[in-house]
Amino acid sequence: MATDKPWGGRFEKPTDELVEAFTASIDTDRHIALDDVRGSRAHAAMLAQVGLLSDADHSAIDRGLDQIRAELEADRFPWNPAHEDVHMNVEVRLRELVGEPASRLHTARSRNDQVGLDARLWARRHLGQVHGALLAVQDALLGQAEAHVDTLLPGYTHLQRGQPVRLAHHLLAYVEMFERDRERVRDAARRMDQSPLGSGALAGTPHPIDRQAVADRLGFAGVTRNSMDATGDRDFMLEAMSAAAISMVHASRLSEEVVLWSSAEFGFLRLDDGFATGSSMMPQKKNPDVAELVRAKSGRVIGDLTALLVTLKGLPLTYNRDLQEDKPPFFDAIRTWRDSLEVTARMIETSTFDRDRMARALDEGFVTATELADWLVTRQVPFREAHAVVGRIVAHCLSASKGLSELSLEELRRFHPAFDADALAWIDPEQAVERRDLPGGPARKQVAARIVEARARLADPERSAWPWASSDAEVGADR
Ligand code: ARG
Repeated sequence: MATDKPWGGRFEKPTDELVEAFTASIDTDRHIALDDVRGSRAHAAMLAQVGLLSDADHSAIDRGLDQIRAELEADRFPWNPAHEDVHMNVEVRLRELVGEPASRLHTARSRNDQVGLDARLWARRHLGQVHGALLAVQDALLGQAEAHVDTLLPGYTHLQRGQPVRLAHHLLAYVEMFERDRERVRDAARRMDQSPLGSGALAGTPHPIDRQAVADRLGFAGVTRNSMDATGDRDFMLEAMSAAAISMVHASRLSEEVVLWSSAEFGFLRLDDGFATGSSMMPQKKNPDVAELVRAKSGRVIGDLTALLVTLKGLPLTYNRDLQEDKPPFFDAIRTWRDSLEVTARMIETSTFDRDRMARALDEGFVTATELADWLVTRQVPFREAHAVVGRIVAHCLSASKGLSELSLEELRRFHPAFDADALAWIDPEQAVERRDLPGGPARKQVAARIVEARARLADPERSAWPWASSDAEVGADR
């Protein structure tokens, strides 16, 4: 009676206004509206192909949907919260535009398989953007690594100076992390490459539809295998968000180093003026706000993932309205991830590293103490004993306010008779790094080879082209 809802037949009263507002999802759904229209056009074309829709009805529907696409793109679409979600808004509008044929579009389809499709289409094109942003971060890190093969600095454990490394080696560690992230994105995209349309509300449809034809039209590799799984599954979101959370943790750790390194205490890195901000009160300040925000946004993305995991954990099969709460955290996580990576790439690219400050930190830090112990090992002294000897040498240096390199041979000999002049040359940081000439090590030859390999990976279409691309153009510029 008093309701224009498509399920109106069953009800004697209209939906309460509070309920209408509470259950509506159009603010979120705006972002899948073009995906929704795209899915509907593919569905309608298939319905016509199998004879469930006349050619006349199909062309009316397709014309109407194309007009809706144009309205959405021009931000002229008449959204109505009373129509709850994007699916019904589009259907109602289609009826206004083309009349009766619109009522046939929902044949062999439910909003449950429809929303699963829309979210996958959204995910696919946004993961392409994320993938591109990961490549940009890797490219920025590699660019700096190429410029700093011969810059040495202390490598840290416990944030205490440990052993000398090449700056390129340090930066390449992040290239590796973001490489794994890229693999995770590609993996997630590959697994979500199945069309759920045809799963219906939960049990498919009695009509002779062609699911693969729809999948082909939408660029999916195949179709989902179980209608109950497909209508209640949000693994594709969880996987992408897990990859997002891990990757944001990587970006956060990199950011933390930028914060530390750009401090006066470290002074290893200078941020470009365009990537730092000032203080409203303290005129001397140049703050690393971008890095700080990326660090904080990692918490937000972890929260988004947690929210969806908790939403899903108690749900019986198949679709439950709880699943409407999937998209806000999902969209937020993926967008935050993409935006954080895009700004990180630029921040790294525009930063300057201070070789002198790094060299000074090497001088002051006893970073070649392990070398001295390893030198004794080459003279058959057991490592444990050598370690203790060098520990005493360091204690002596500290009380005498000296660096290791300032010790004379006589002083060294007081701690162990095996020391000779060769030991003094051995503790040169450059030599220490060069001796670590093994796969994964920081020697020049190794680092140079890793840079070449990393560049080749970025240029390799098998590993770095986005095979699910180009849908961006088809669904407009929604970010
Ligand atoms: N707005 C809903 C969502 O986002 C669409 C699916 C609604 N299905 C339903 N049976 N009420 O999940």
